[in-house]
Amino acid sequence: MSQIDNVLHEDRRFAPPEEFRERAVLGDEETYRRMYRESIESPETFWDGVARELPWSEPYSRVLDWSQAPRARWFVDGRINASAVCLDRHLPERAEKPAIVWEGEPGDTRTLTYAELQREVCRAANGLKSRGISRGDRVAIYMPMIPELAVALLACARIGAVHSVIFGGFSAQALRDRIEDGSCCAVITADGGWRRGSVLPLKREVDAGIEGLDFVHTVVVVRRGENEVAWTEGRDCWYHELLAGVANECEPEAMDSEDPLFLLYTSGSTGKPKGIVHTTGGYLVGTSLTTKYVFDLREDDVYWCTADIGWITGHSYIVYGPLANGATVVMYEGAPTTPHAGRFWELVEKHRVTIFYTAPTAIRTFMRLGAEHPERFDLSSLRLLGTVGESINPEAWMWYRDTIGGGRCPIVDTWWQTETGAIMLTPLPGVTETKPGSATWPFFGVDPVIVDEQGNELGANEGGLLALRKPWPSMLRGIWGDEERFRETYWSQLPGLYFAGDGARRDEEGYFWILGRVDDVINISGHRLSTMEVESALVSHPAVCEAAVVGRPDEVTGQSICAFVTVAADVEADAAFGAALREHVASEIGKLARPAELRFTDALPKTRSGKIMRRLLRDIAAGIESVGDMSTIEDYSVLAKLRDYDD
Ligand code: PRX
Repeated sequence: MSQIDNVLHEDRRFAPPEEFRERAVLGDEETYRRMYRESIESPETFWDGVARELPWSEPYSRVLDWSQAPRARWFVDGRINASAVCLDRHLPERAEKPAIVWEGEPGDTRTLTYAELQREVCRAANGLKSRGISRGDRVAIYMPMIPELAVALLACARIGAVHSVIFGGFSAQALRDRIEDGSCCAVITADGGWRRGSVLPLKREVDAGIEGLDFVHTVVVVRRGENEVAWTEGRDCWYHELLAGVANECEPEAMDSEDPLFLLYTSGSTGKPKGIVHTTGGYLVGTSLTTKYVFDLREDDVYWCTADIGWITGHSYIVYGPLANGATVVMYEGAPTTPHAGRFWELVEKHRVTIFYTAPTAIRTFMRLGAEHPERFDLSSLRLLGTVGESINPEAWMWYRDTIGGGRCPIVDTWWQTETGAIMLTPLPGVTETKPGSATWPFFGVDPVIVDEQGNELGANEGGLLALRKPWPSMLRGIWGDEERFRETYWSQLPGLYFAGDGARRDEEGYFWILGRVDDVINISGHRLSTMEVESALVSHPAVCEAAVVGRPDEVTGQSICAFVTVAADVEADAAFGAALREHVASEIGKLARPAELRFTDALPKTRSGKIMRRLLRDIAAGIESVGDMSTIEDYSVLAKLRDYDD
């Protein structure tokens, strides 16, 4: 019973356009194969070759020490500073090149060149030092998407303080839990930030979140929202006042390769959030190499990743990876549809964005809003598209390709996790023939395998657990303060392997298809179906915008399918429509997958990063009250509405 049935078939495939391939960083499959083989057969030689490119202040004595597995040490004894990698080393060649092109939600803009960003980071670092913050201290960062957020990360990195970014949409309680867990001595925040046309009062949340936490001695406040704030003398200081008298230079701390660079909390499916620990040298090697190859980065690119820096995607692919490569990065403060449904596309046109990286949930939202919005703007600057965060259903993939990419841009569907630090499975845009919905192939040094629950390797097209056989430089080094949970969660379920928690299959050509979190698999009469595939079948119906599928207990079949479905505004979700939709799923997948129950809803409960909270839906489907961590939920009213449905 350990395999996951896979039921969806996708035969379309898209080779890299010839024009793209010719100019690509990597444009032929043979070279990819050779480099991949070397990275697996002689990983230390491979990674040594990559790491040498970085500016180490002390060279490493060994590439990898895996003798204390699962505790990895990469680039042993090497010394390096992340802010120097991202800034100082570009100054000779790129001082005047824009590093950050920022757009505020109200339409204000700022551009910081590499020289300006370096100076600002040095000044902020000096400001932090003047408050007694130093190497090894943990600093919480709770900010809107403004340039000072990137500056704050890099300023911490410069002095060797460990940053812990907490997404600006979290509540005071979530903030408190994370600040306490990391015993952060300082918080960097803003008075407020713009979101959907109004100012979110961030400082107010900080005040409530740290009340009574005496170990927080400093709160640095950037002026952004211009909203009123309460003030605690001695503890609070304005960012601009803190920086007023400081020097423009700040020597970067020579950090040990294995010194922590940051903590980032990720919610487990149950229990308290885990503070994922990433260290310095390996993380920089992993993020910089993936950025270069996956995004095919060239000197003149304008690169936009729409994630918030509060998530790993923003850490790795707004800040560290792109800046380590000297890229021009677009950063946007606000909501994708404020003040109008075409805002993203307006920004693509305005800044002549060439590389665009977003999440499937955003793509589905735009699909629902209609092609007329992107069509109003000139998107011809785009040459590469990417997705991350969940499997992209083939319909959305095709829409993204045609409507946003004009049929000419390769799509990189990148699979990875907060824990992996960098992209693990992905097409290389000049090499890989893509298949809609597949994250395709392993990146260099990544050795994935599909196994059953006993760890036995499965064959082609057999759905099972996705695991990684080899350590990789940007891997997590632990869960902050909880060694036991680190070993238990990732390393003990499948001995000797890293267990990612995802189901997947590999097709006969070696392409990986992610089937979603294994906690989400539904078992109907002994058939294990991935919720993702049933959802994909539902949204392939033209009237369906979004669907979330969960299992609920069933006396006869063990579990049965309950589907929560959002339909287009002009569709009446009556009984006849429900019947037609169930038949649609039956014809796409088979009768087995026909939902036992359909619930039509205006919205689905999601985390703030756009993931559907299936755990909550499972409870609703089973008619029980949810318990456990809900700090990541985007909109509580959705949950209340879904519950009302029962009454
Ligand atoms: O289930 C996989 C899904 O997102 C999980 C990791 O979530 P998080 O740590 O928040 O990081 C998201 C950004 C890297 C994975 O275990 N996931 C991520 N990317 C994909 C994906 N599922 C399918 N396809 C992807 N491209």
